[in-house]
Amino acid sequence: MKKLVRFGVSLEGELLKKFDSFIGAEGYSNRSKAIADLIRKEFVADVFSKGGTVAGAVTIVYDHHKREVVNKLLDIQHDHGRIIISAQHVHLDHDNCLEIIAVKGPGAKVGKLADALKSVNGVKHATLSVTTAGK
Ligand code: NI
Repeated sequence: MKKLVRFGVSLEGELLKKFDSFIGAEGYSNRSKAIADLIRKEFVADVFSKGGTVAGAVTIVYDHHKREVVNKLLDIQHDHGRIIISAQHVHLDHDNCLEIIAVKGPGAKVGKLADALKSVNGVKHATLSVTTAGK
């Protein structure tokens, strides 16, 4: 583990109260971990917006009976093979499929893949969750 550095932060009392309440509801037991996570979250958003390398998951739900939806989704994934690490397919029920597509690559390309998948007719919902690629 890297060496920890202590530093002082001054905040308005009301803001600190809200922060403590917020992180308590999130399950944090101390401020240090919560503050470090918030800082990392901003760094990940910054890396993503500047096109740096991120990792993440695109999650989509679709009705596989819809015309051509499966082929279109496969075409898009084959066109983005360089940034797709793996894909998991779950048959949710008779009609609906859930796909979790793990990605790693430049933020702009990951965003374009997610946009392409969510705009396919028959896709009911899509999310992109982005996190650090570890560096
Ligand atoms: Ni299925």
